[in-house]
Amino acid sequence: MSIKVRTAIFPVAGMGTRFLPATKATPKELLPVIDTPLIQYAIDEARDAGIERMIFVSHPEKAAIERHVMDNAALRADLAAKGKRALADGLKEACLCPKADDVVFTMQDAPKGLGHAVLCARDHVLPGPVAVLLPDDLILGRGCIGEMVESYAAAGAGHMVATMDVARGDTKSYGILDVAQRDGNLLRARGMVEKPDPADAPSRSAVVGRYVLDPAIFDALATQTAGAGGEIQLTDAIARGVADVGLAGFRFSGTRFDCGSKAGMLRATLHLAMQDPELADVVSDHLRAAAMDQAA
Ligand code: G1P
Repeated sequence: MSIKVRTAIFPVAGMGTRFLPATKATPKELLPVIDTPLIQYAIDEARDAGIERMIFVSHPEKAAIERHVMDNAALRADLAAKGKRALADGLKEACLCPKADDVVFTMQDAPKGLGHAVLCARDHVLPGPVAVLLPDDLILGRGCIGEMVESYAAAGAGHMVATMDVARGDTKSYGILDVAQRDGNLLRARGMVEKPDPADAPSRSAVVGRYVLDPAIFDALATQTAGAGGEIQLTDAIARGVADVGLAGFRFSGTRFDCGSKAGMLRATLHLAMQDPELADVVSDHLRAAAMDQAA
């Protein structure tokens, strides 16, 4: 048995203050790892998972996201006319096109939290469970949301969140699961708390930015009061649904990079560079030269 997940929500309204000044004029979701913006990795992951409708919850100041995501036929024609057919074809493959794709842009005009951002998508979702992807969390390897969709029916829980173990000292940066039982890749959870102090954290199972949520999440979010940081937290609305729809954690197989931080961006860049023979040589040369400088 499988359950179709037809909608993906991408919350992309955040201001990206951790990357200023880079994000003064460029949305953080358009910062590249090598040559591909973070949002593109998330779109490709959702596509590979068979998502039909993509909803971007954006901000009026971040129109560049829409320009990146949507087709630019004039640019493609220009590249093709200059003999750069491969580049033009690459752009066509990556972009979303209103003729072929079901795309919605909706605005979150105030920074009221991740839960509020997801609620902003409510009027646009297709029936059934919805996927939520946070582009800051870059997951390389097998597509995380695709793996979750495959396991969703078997998990038997309405809400499913991607999870990984973190050091106890890091619980303050994540939603943390209250784990009742572990069963291979699946964790049965009896609750979830947003960014607890290490001393109060119910486990070290942290939520990363991939969710498959029962549509009941929207009613929960509509009545959700502000939580951690004074924001409407998605974590709190998920936790309130545990008794009614159930909650499972899913241990994904890919490698996750926290691209909301400079260290994570650098790690992701090095990881991908090492997989490209030309760039791997650049990294090795640089490290060799740096080691020689240090020894001198
Ligand atoms: C959000 C969620 C948090 C989750 C994290 C994953 O926090 O609120 O529960 O663990 O994403 O990256 P943020 O990092 O946006 O503060």
